[in-house]
Amino acid sequence: MKRLVLAVMTVGMFLASAVQGAEELNNQAVTNAGGIGGVESLRGVSELETTRPADDFKRFPRDQGTIDSDYVYQPPLVPHSIRNYEVSLNANKCLACHSWKNAKEMGATKISVTHYQTREGQVLSDVSPRRYFCLQCHVPQADAKPLVENDFQRVDALR
Ligand code: HEC
Ligand code: HEC
Repeated sequence: MKRLVLAVMTVGMFLASAVQGAEELNNQAVTNAGGIGGVESLRGVSELETTRPADDFKRFPRDQGTIDSDYVYQPPLVPHSIRNYEVSLNANKCLACHSWKNAKEMGATKISVTHYQTREGQVLSDVSPRRYFCLQCHVPQADAKPLVENDFQRVDALR
């Protein structure tokens, strides 16, 4: 009799743990799409095994003139395409048009005096290294659908 009880208990425990195991697997499948490390982000779900086709290039409207600012001291948005404009150790395509030397001839806005100042306020005769990588602050504006809702409003002074 003792043996039978023991046997029944063992089988029972085995079954219980099997059910629990299956449940855990199930839960994993829900959080981990396909069980192969699926990544879920605002851009959708992608599985590591499948290569998602690249998104189309965003279209940057041509010749939209300068774009109004939304707050004071905003780095102005770039109103033109910047494709293939190299900014590297050896070349800075932006400065070919926007430097004080070239701006007039190219009909471009010249960079402002702040771009010649070091962090300590010293004025240099050439662009300050901290203003060299233009795209760190100036970005072109595409007519793209925002990923998240945004109710930002421009400051009163500029409305
Ligand atoms: C071929 C010349 C040329 C090059 C190269 C160029 N720009 Fe421009 N940029 C212009 C002109 C001209 C304007 C004036 C607006 C217009 O006509 O589109 C302008 C306007 C801008 C403005 C707006 C200025 C304002 O007052 O609102 C920004 C910011 C700007 N460019 C940034 C850049 C950056 C950053 C790069 C490099 C990635 C760059 N530009 C490369 C010619 C150029
Ligand atoms: C650290 C951020 C930063 C970097 C890097 C930077 N800018 Fe700016 N830029 C600004 C801000 C902020 C303004 C507006 C206030 C001002 O003039 O300083 C501005 C203004 C401008 C303007 C408009 C000037 C005017 O008189 O209206 C142009 C053109 C411009 N930047 C071009 C460039 C170019 C080209 C580069 C790269 C060589 C560059 N910027 C790098 C922040 C930056």
